[in-house]
Amino acid sequence: MPNTPEKKETFYISTPIYYPSASLHIGNTYCTVAADVMARYKRQRGYDVFFLTGTDEHGQKIEDIAKKEDVTPLEFVDGIVAGIRDLWSLMNISYDRFIRTTDPAHMRSVQKIFRDLYDNGDLYKGVYKGKYCKPCESFWTETQLADGKCPDCGREVSDAEEEAYFLRLSKYQERLIELYESVPDFLQPESRKNEMLNNFLRPGLEDLCVSRTSFTWGIPVDFDEGHVVYVWIDALSNYITALGYNNNIYDGFEKYWPANVHFVGKEIVRFHAIIWPVMLWSLGLPLPEKIFGHGWLTFEGKKMSKSSGNGADPYALAEKYGVDVLRYVLLRAFPFGNDGDWSEKLLVSVINSDLANKLGNLLSRTVSMTEKYFNSRLLDDFTSDPSLDEPLISAYAETVREFDAAMERFDFQGALEAVIAQLSRANKYIDDTAPWILAKEPSNRPRLSSVLYNLLENLRLAAVLLTPFMPTAAKEIFAQIGADSEESQTSAVFGTLPAKANVRRGENLFPRIQTEE
Ligand code: MSP
Repeated sequence: MPNTPEKKETFYISTPIYYPSASLHIGNTYCTVAADVMARYKRQRGYDVFFLTGTDEHGQKIEDIAKKEDVTPLEFVDGIVAGIRDLWSLMNISYDRFIRTTDPAHMRSVQKIFRDLYDNGDLYKGVYKGKYCKPCESFWTETQLADGKCPDCGREVSDAEEEAYFLRLSKYQERLIELYESVPDFLQPESRKNEMLNNFLRPGLEDLCVSRTSFTWGIPVDFDEGHVVYVWIDALSNYITALGYNNNIYDGFEKYWPANVHFVGKEIVRFHAIIWPVMLWSLGLPLPEKIFGHGWLTFEGKKMSKSSGNGADPYALAEKYGVDVLRYVLLRAFPFGNDGDWSEKLLVSVINSDLANKLGNLLSRTVSMTEKYFNSRLLDDFTSDPSLDEPLISAYAETVREFDAAMERFDFQGALEAVIAQLSRANKYIDDTAPWILAKEPSNRPRLSSVLYNLLENLRLAAVLLTPFMPTAAKEIFAQIGADSEESQTSAVFGTLPAKANVRRGENLFPRIQTEE
């Protein structure tokens, strides 16, 4: 198998931990589905994977909402966290650990991290005076505001003045610039790096306020009563506390840290690409290998959000089209690094063009011909026609190379494009070989067997490569083409399917969806 490590190597991937106030629309699932696909891909290729997700439960916003609803903050978040876990179970997310920042183990670890930052000379006490955006839990200076409002979400900011601890970001400005220059892959895609350099680093980094005294729903600073740790210091720490850093409830730090990649949405890149490296440097820990800042799913050009009534509902979409199809379309329709405008029309067009016309069509034609001409079992006597077979077989190996290269770049769209292109070649191969004509002549049976075998092998390969994207549908394809062994469900080498595999026609997996046009 290409891209398979010699010995069991580790692969640590994380999603952001979600605010329990976040509305659950299809945009929220985007990053987690992408990370799940990557985790499944690496597992399939023999890596020892650690896939982390969770919830970010502290902060003033949660305290305020809980007060309004007359419940404790913990009671409030418990209910929402259950909903988030339910959404991940619907979307078939195979995380290895789900961390909650209200976990006592995480909280104790963060207290120790905060103290270490202080002891290492990277925190100092001062007075914070400026603006605060509650929904984003972000501090802003007057000059950073856009028309007096939060530059990230456009909402009202409030005045904040309080005694606070500050993190010496300014001390690390040059080191950050050097990091971006010397490790070009650290922050991807390229455009995010330029954004960080031009908007934050080159204009000059200001020290960051990292404790609050005006509310209590947070992790208490254990050496200064009345202060709670700023939510972003609390939240970013999850990537190591979930591995047992500073606690013995969890484990895996030695094995998995540094992370291979943190997937994050574009608006939270700056926290991951500026604050997080500074924290890790101060703690004397290695940095994650990569941070990938993906784009947003928009709806009619605006960021999806339930509160503005434009959030597509993953439950309704999954019910109507199926979870696998939804996972596929999310990653196929848009380049992962860019924004993508979501619509049901787009979803239907991707289903029809890729899944119904290419994959579903190839599957149903191949399986029914195998059933009709061979009573579901091919001969093991093959006759090849190199001029028709070799181009398809050599494109097969090339498809695997392209697929792997795209996956390594987190180019999910490109990886799927490679699979679909191979399926198109296989569909064309049916037209070129015309099995229905071969079937008329008994002496052509070995040739016909060979043609159908090549088609079944292409379906098997597609199902292997699509397994991380559509785990359930891939299994159904394996069942229909008789790929029953583990090897035939994972190998990307041509010829793995046994010649006399037992092909079984099943339901049409990807029926075409009728549209008004
Ligand atoms: N709690 C912080 C993350 C802390 S990580 C140490 C947070 N939470 S969030 O719930 O607001 O967002 C979680 C993720 O969902 C972010 O990466 C955000 O970009 C992503 N998305 C929310 N809406 C989205 C879209 N419409 N499209 C794509 N991603 C979106 O930020």
